[in-house]
Amino acid sequence: MKKDVLILAIESSCDETAAAVVKNGREVLSNIISSQIDLHKLYGGVVPEIASRKHIEKINQVIEEALSEAQVTLDDIDAIGVTYGPGLVGALLVGVAEAKAISYARKIPLVGVHHIEGHISANYIENKDLEPPFACLVVSGGHTHLVVVEDYGKYRIIGKTRDDAAGEAFDKVARAIGLGYPGGPKIDRLSKEGNAEAIRFPKAHVADAPYDFSFSGLKSAVLNYLNGCKMKGENIVEADVAASFQKAVTDVLVEHAMMAVKEYGFDKLAIAGGVASNSTLRGAMQEACEKNHVKFYHPSPILCTDNAAMIGAAAYYEFINGVRHGLDLNAVPNLKLGERYEG
Ligand code: KG4
Ligand code: ZN
Repeated sequence: MKKDVLILAIESSCDETAAAVVKNGREVLSNIISSQIDLHKLYGGVVPEIASRKHIEKINQVIEEALSEAQVTLDDIDAIGVTYGPGLVGALLVGVAEAKAISYARKIPLVGVHHIEGHISANYIENKDLEPPFACLVVSGGHTHLVVVEDYGKYRIIGKTRDDAAGEAFDKVARAIGLGYPGGPKIDRLSKEGNAEAIRFPKAHVADAPYDFSFSGLKSAVLNYLNGCKMKGENIVEADVAASFQKAVTDVLVEHAMMAVKEYGFDKLAIAGGVASNSTLRGAMQEACEKNHVKFYHPSPILCTDNAAMIGAAAYYEFINGVRHGLDLNAVPNLKLGERYEG
């Protein structure tokens, strides 16, 4: 009988210190997340120095918890998967150094994982039937990518943002209407009380690249609208602003994703990343997929935002494909999807 493969996964690319134990890429035995959000909230966004320091304080404890909740020890672990990019360099380094130390001390193979590959792989955990090829829309705080997942570990980016990422736009607009950090979940919640048709915000299209995105114009339009109201002494209905902005973002995301599945002939579409937990986006994408006879995949919200289970899922497929990293593995803050670490 084939032996089970147990991966200890570590994620520290931004403001969550996370560790997980994942069996055969799809079964999560533990998924521990220590969030720093309350700390960064005070500053209105992630402060890189503070993030690195907090990761150092938390990482051992988070790993110990992940092992103990999974009822395993390091002796049972077949490989260590760790996010090595993209992300904040100081934050990434904490996870990478920790993974290398355990790998060296316990002679456990090391597998570096691309953070976005992790987000995409989150879809495998709860959808045991999902296998490449499929299209995936990755919408996070740092990325907005439309990706063709050709095979495990093999990706083709067909569209990406020219300026702000979708999550970044949510965070900036939330700040402008006084909701605080992180903005995405707050806009999601407030929008339920608002009218999405109240204000017509622009839906940007990039002329020569139909799959690319642009959100900075939309963000400016929201800021101009708010300033205009203030100057004219008009009342601002925050819920209407939030709902109208959210609709402008989701309409474009759905449109582009549907265009991609049609043109590339896919009958499967997945979404991934923090913004993929947005309830309006999930509803609109579900509806569009049903209309177009496309099967829609999305992770649970806890697996959409940063976590280590998704890194464990991605690491498993890299591991069984023979990917191994040496102790020269370094953090690569601007790592491109599909790129391999060459030392
Ligand atoms: O994937 P993620 O946890 O971290 C990155 O890799 O960037 O994504 C974080 C982003 C933040 O911008 C946050 O505001 C956004 O995801 N987000 C949401 C929601 N939950 C998180 N955006 C819209 N609606 C949500 N429910
Ligand atoms: Zn992320």
